[in-house]
Amino acid sequence: MGKEENLIESLNLKFINGSVTDKNLMEEVLSQNKFDYIFHLAAVASVADSVARPVETHQINFESVLSLLELVRKYQKDLKRLVFSSSAAVYGDEPTLPKKEESVIRPLTPYAVDKFAAEQYVLDYNHLYGVPTSAVRFFNVYGPNQNPESPYSGVISILVDRYKKLQSEVDTQFTLFGDGSQSRDFVFIEDVIQALLLVADKPESLGKQFNVGTGNAITLTKLIEVIDEILDIKLPIEYESEREGDIKDSVANISRLNSLGYEANFSINEGMKRYLDSE
Ligand code: UD1
Repeated sequence: MGKEENLIESLNLKFINGSVTDKNLMEEVLSQNKFDYIFHLAAVASVADSVARPVETHQINFESVLSLLELVRKYQKDLKRLVFSSSAAVYGDEPTLPKKEESVIRPLTPYAVDKFAAEQYVLDYNHLYGVPTSAVRFFNVYGPNQNPESPYSGVISILVDRYKKLQSEVDTQFTLFGDGSQSRDFVFIEDVIQALLLVADKPESLGKQFNVGTGNAITLTKLIEVIDEILDIKLPIEYESEREGDIKDSVANISRLNSLGYEANFSINEGMKRYLDSE
């Protein structure tokens, strides 16, 4: 769950605190406002949570999307685009790399199944009813204000938390699951925003899905080296056995996104610097 204090203060921002599963509220919002763009980012974002609570996750990650699509079809005749956020999790553990949008889909968890099903509905609403939709498949997103407290947090927010403790001379260490040779395509939040805006704006992205990453992967060992170097500090590491169900490597082919004019502006080095500066 995000935090309200992370929102910018702006007269152009109207914040409604509610759930996408609240049908009355959603009908009220969609029937009484005229939207140009809708970015759908609401979800149970934790894969592990979806495994623990598949029914509740399904209501939030799938059913609410279908309800929203119906409301958009009914009320938002002038909508320019709805962009739905899906996930690299749809590719599962199929080992062929890099992942292309046409790669084999092997959703292995309720989270991944719901994301894929919702994504397909979102795109079908374009093909079947002319609702202007697109979808994006996020790889490993990182950036300021991620909550490191949850055991299901992304690894970079956990790492930053441990480095901050270390800098404040609090005794800490980072638990690395596996040998550190696993790799991920970590994409900085500002590049994610660039991708969302391009996908929303370009006519050629209509009815299609796009990987959102950098096109480059880094191993965990190398990532820690990079941050050690930026902060000039050495993070103590405790090695534990590999996390169950972990995939070894993940990297996006982003040529489809590149064709819209996207360039990943933040290498892991640049993104981490910006992230650490903002803390
Ligand atoms: C993400 C999901 C994961 C899901 C997977 C499949 C999140 C936070 N993670 O995992 O639930 O199964 O996609 O698509 O949504 N690591 C450590 N120490 C830590 C935390 C993580 O060593 O304290 C390691 C993990 O074992 C993993 C790597 O760091 O090898 C990256 O982990 P994470 O940030 O959770 O991302 P994914 O593995 O891609």
